[in-house]
Amino acid sequence: MSCGQNCNCNCKKAIITGITGQDGSHLADFLLSRGYKVVGITRRSSTDNTGRIKHLLDHPNFKLVDGDITDYSSIVNVLLKYAPRQKVCEFYNLAAQSHVAVSFKQPGLTWDVTAKGCLNILQAIVDLQLTNNVKFYQASSSEMFGKNYDVVDGKKVQSETTRFLPQSPYAIAKCAAHEAVRLYREAYGIHASAGILFNHEGPRRGETFVTRKITKWIGDFCKHIVSNGVEVPFPKLRLGNLEAFRDWGYAGDYVEAMWMMLQQDIPDDYVICTGETHSIREFLDVAFNRIGIRDWSEYVVQDPEFYRPAEVDYLLGDNTKATNKLGWRPKTSFEELVSMMLQHDLNNELQSSC
Ligand code: NAP
Ligand code: GDD
Repeated sequence: MSCGQNCNCNCKKAIITGITGQDGSHLADFLLSRGYKVVGITRRSSTDNTGRIKHLLDHPNFKLVDGDITDYSSIVNVLLKYAPRQKVCEFYNLAAQSHVAVSFKQPGLTWDVTAKGCLNILQAIVDLQLTNNVKFYQASSSEMFGKNYDVVDGKKVQSETTRFLPQSPYAIAKCAAHEAVRLYREAYGIHASAGILFNHEGPRRGETFVTRKITKWIGDFCKHIVSNGVEVPFPKLRLGNLEAFRDWGYAGDYVEAMWMMLQQDIPDDYVICTGETHSIREFLDVAFNRIGIRDWSEYVVQDPEFYRPAEVDYLLGDNTKATNKLGWRPKTSFEELVSMMLQHDLNNELQSSC
């Protein structure tokens, strides 16, 4: 893909940070399928971190470039080389230290990546005088609502107008980045939008997030039984708080909403969610049920190691604005999401024998 800054071709162009992550990989799939040329920014790693985008590495319209969003000059270099001056380019900032529990242990790093990294990109757009050329998307989060919610028709929900009350260093960093997006939009006229996305999952979800931790454990457990039989013990599934509620959707549905935001004439912020909430216990019920286990209590241990110093107990989004203005709707139900993840973690031949 030789599409540098002076390119005159008619292709649509997108730059994605966080390309090696769950959402970056889905967004790249989506944009490539729509004919975009996609530049993905990866940070240096001593081991291969391209597992989620392996299928794209030889795609003619896909290119990986080195960069780290904590390093201002590396962002400048990518923009200088790949953001065309003659036309519009979409820039999706999906990079973050995205694990809430980790953010309590590494608050400084989380701030540098998740808050300052976003500021670095916005400032680079201004410094390079690309404010009219770059449409910017920021991956904001329902974690920003923390403990807060509104009561609408007797239901506790979070929407674009709900006040933020962050409960972790991660959420504080996301609030700072979210405010920076608003400020740079108003101060410099950048077409900058933030998607306030509620939890979204899928087979590409990192294995330390609770949904994938559960489906991965079930997959490993079933493989163990097939290979060793029930009499050989298998380590239990160790989890933390099972009482929290999350509004869980499918990542593949959510990246489309990111793109839709950047196709609007006027930049804005949107809540993206399913409008349904389930507890971790309910996730366990559905997942274990799929392999014929009704009472999972003997397989699961609640371990203090996985509790957080502060918790977000309840998330349930209101996606009215996104459905009305963007025409976006979630396509995957909670049950379909759990099945899809299990399907991936149990390989087909095991499903029948477990
Ligand atoms: P993810 O799987 O954890 O991916 C994070 C990405 O950020 C990875 O590609 C990671 O690269 C990259 N990254 C980390 N530090 C970086 C740095 N200093 N410079 C450049 N890249 C860096 O997260 P995700 O689930 O795809 O989420 C995408 C974004 O949406 C994140 O900003 C997250 O906070 C936000 N978000 C996610 C959800 C959700 O439920 N998934 C909900 C709301 C908001 P490596 O592969 O090298 O680690
Ligand atoms: N990770 C994890 N591991 N969470 C556990 C565990 C466990 O063993 N046991 C219980 N939980 C509970 C957590 O305490 C939390 O209440 C809930 O499961 C969900 O945890 P995660 O899957 O880690 O997700 P999260 O909600 O904290 O954060 C995710 O969603 C945010 C959007 O609301 C991440 O993707 C964030 O990056 C994202 O912004």
